[in-house]
Formats: sequence, structure tokens, C-alpha cells
Amino acid sequence: MLATIGSAAGLGNIWRFSYVAGENGGAAFLLIYVVGVALIGVPLLLGEFSIGRRGQADAVTSFATVTPNRRWGLAGWLLAVAAFVLLSYYAVIAGWAYKYFAGYLIGDVSNAARGGFASYFNSFVADPIEPVLWQLLVVASTVAVVMVGVRHGIERVNKILMPLLGVIVVMLAAYGLTLDGASAGLAFLFRPDWSALAHPPVYFAAAGQAFFSLGIGAGALLTYGSYTPAGQKLAPAALTVVAGDTLFAIIAGVAIFPAVFAFGLDPAHGPKLAFVTLPEVFNVMPGGRAVAIAFFALLGLAALTSAVSLLEVPSAVLMRKFRWSRSKSALFIGVAVFAAGVPSALGYGVLDGVTLFGLGILEGIDRIASNIVLPIGGMLIAICVGWVWSRRDALQTMDLQDGWIARAWLFLLRYLSPLLILLMLLGLVTE
Ligand code: PHE
Repeated sequence: MLATIGSAAGLGNIWRFSYVAGENGGAAFLLIYVVGVALIGVPLLLGEFSIGRRGQADAVTSFATVTPNRRWGLAGWLLAVAAFVLLSYYAVIAGWAYKYFAGYLIGDVSNAARGGFASYFNSFVADPIEPVLWQLLVVASTVAVVMVGVRHGIERVNKILMPLLGVIVVMLAAYGLTLDGASAGLAFLFRPDWSALAHPPVYFAAAGQAFFSLGIGAGALLTYGSYTPAGQKLAPAALTVVAGDTLFAIIAGVAIFPAVFAFGLDPAHGPKLAFVTLPEVFNVMPGGRAVAIAFFALLGLAALTSAVSLLEVPSAVLMRKFRWSRSKSALFIGVAVFAAGVPSALGYGVLDGVTLFGLGILEGIDRIASNIVLPIGGMLIAICVGWVWSRRDALQTMDLQDGWIARAWLFLLRYLSPLLILLMLLGLVTE
């Protein structure tokens, strides 16, 4: 349960939520996001978790266990590939958090005030080597944690440090409200422009964000589900994780958007948004540098626990399939993930101008991963649990009585999730 919180809470709540909400008009996006989380996020999260719990093994083996047909193991491979793709660029952004932690520690971010924080960020990401070094450090620390084993390290981090990150974000939000011009930021986040509801890409963006932030469709929940002891009630735990993750993102939005408007920044600034906005806040806030050090240290750790959950997925598959040791599997995937992420790390520098679907490399891969790859993973989970797996077995695994909750869960998995995901994928193709 603690490890699952660590997997869900991460860059998605702060970095990705703010940039995607900013690009998609704010409040209308938030509204669709919350509805999407409830209607497809919750059932899929439970579905993914339950496959792992029943399978008691890695993604490939678990799919094959709950279905009568071994070919379903392919779905597990797909989830492992999704985790790999996600981790490749996730490590890059986590590297930005590590860099800012170091930058505040030695003071060079605070000193950048005069040149502007955007130029500090831009010259950092434009460097041909530095972003890659931080990315490497993230991958190395992730591999190290996975080698030691998920349980011990991660649980302690989550029990003590994640609540602390929550406290800091609440403080930042409270401070953000006192900034001149905060009300424009609040209106952006909470007063919907209803016309945006007629705009399909806002729905796709919201759905993609739900997958990313809850961590659905990459096998992380499945793999962690396989480590849960029987007899622990999953449904209430899952609801707590989902509600907490969503609240966390909204509070982070309150920490960021008032500042975006107060400092005259552009909400549709893209993936850099949080990294150019928050330094403005730390700059004017009393004790800002100390708060920034704590904030980026904890954000780095939050990212690390999510990265660990991602690396665990393909590593668990290799361990099982090839009987490799934990260390060998983690190291092997780690090297490959690092190599795969280098283009993302250089996307704002040496490779600036290279585009994927008209977006920069990092944003392009992020879009493909969240709006295509994770939803396909979600679709496989929905079909597996809703249509293929025996109903009795599924409900028993979830400790669910065959009442209205169970019926609602299976209904959403059988019909609503596949339908919405299908519409989303078709919509993206025709976009
Ligand atoms: N949920 C994590 C975050 O918000 C990212 C993640 C995605 C983790 C998929 C695991 C699986 O940062």
C-alpha cells in the first residue's frame, strides 16, 4: 500500500499536472480529469492491481495465470514495454528535480534571479552534457534501489517523507494565494470555460493525465499487487490512493497557477512550466531558498519512488523469464533505459528542433506514452478483467461481495473503459 502511494505520487502530480492543465485551459480540463479519474481511473487501477494479486508474479506470468490462454502473456510484455518507455524520459525530468535541489543547495539558482529563471532553466537544458548526467544519476539511483529490493527503502521514504512533501506543497499553495494577481490563477484553475468541453483534445489530455498520474497501464500496480499479502482489503486502499493523488495534484495547481499569473508567465509554456514558475515563488517567499531545497529533495524522492515502480516491471519479467538475478535484471534494463532516454534529455539542447508529431522530443514521447501506450495497457487490463477472467475469481481476489459495488466495477471495466479508450485512440488518429 505504501509502495503504491509512492508509485502514484510523483512528477505527475506537480510537473505533469501543471503543464498539461496549463496547455488545456485549466478548469475545464480539471473537471474532465476528476470525472475521468472516478469513472475509468478507479476501476482500472483496481483491475490492474487485482491481476497482479491473483497472479502473484510479474506482469507476463500474471496475465497468463488469470486467463485460460497463455497468449495473454503478451499483454504483460506490452505493459513492460510501456514501463520502459515511460521510465526513459521520466528519468530526465526527475534529473531536473535533482539538478534544482543541487542548484539551490549551492545557491546558483537563487543567484539566477537577475537573469530570470527561464534563462537559468534554458541554459541548463541546452547544455550538451549536464541534463544527461542528471538523468544518469536518476537511473543509477533507481537501479540501486531496485537491486536492494523495493520493500525496505521505499516504505520508509513514503511513510515519512511523502507527507512532508504534501505539507510543503500546501504551504506553497497558501503562499501562492497571497501573491498579487493570485485570483487570475485561481479562476484559470477553477472557473471553467465551458466552450472547452466541446473540444475533444481536452478529453484526451485529461485521460492521458489520469493514466500517468495514477500510474495505470504500465504494470507497476500489477507488479506491486503481486507483492500484497492476501487478506488485505484492496478497494478502500485503492480509493484512498486515488483521492490522495488527485487532491495532491489540485493543491499543486494552487501552488503553481496563481504564481504563473502573478509573474506574468504563460500557462501553456509546456513541460518547463513548473521549473520556471516555482523558482519565482521561492525567490520572493521568506526563507524561500530553504523551502526550495526541501521541496526539490522531496520531489526528487517522490520521482525516485515512481521510477523504482517502473523499473520493477521489466526487471520482474526478466527475473522470471530468464531466471536472472534481481541485480542483473535491474542493471540490464537500467543501461537500456538510460540509452533510450538520452534523446529526451537533449531535446531542448543539441536536438532542439527535432520534432515528433510537431512537438519537441520530450513532449512528443510524453504524449505518445500517456495518450497512446498507457491507454492501450489500460484497454488490455479492462478486457482481461471484464471479459476474460472468471467473474467469481476476480471478485474473490478483490474481496468484493457480489453486490452493487462489484457490478458497478465490472460494468465500468467491461463497457465504459474500453469504449472511452477506443474513442480516445481513434480521436488521436484523426486529430
Ligand atoms: N504515477 C507516477 C507519477 O505521477 C508515474 C508513473 C506512471 C508511475 C506509470 C508508475 C507507472 O509521477
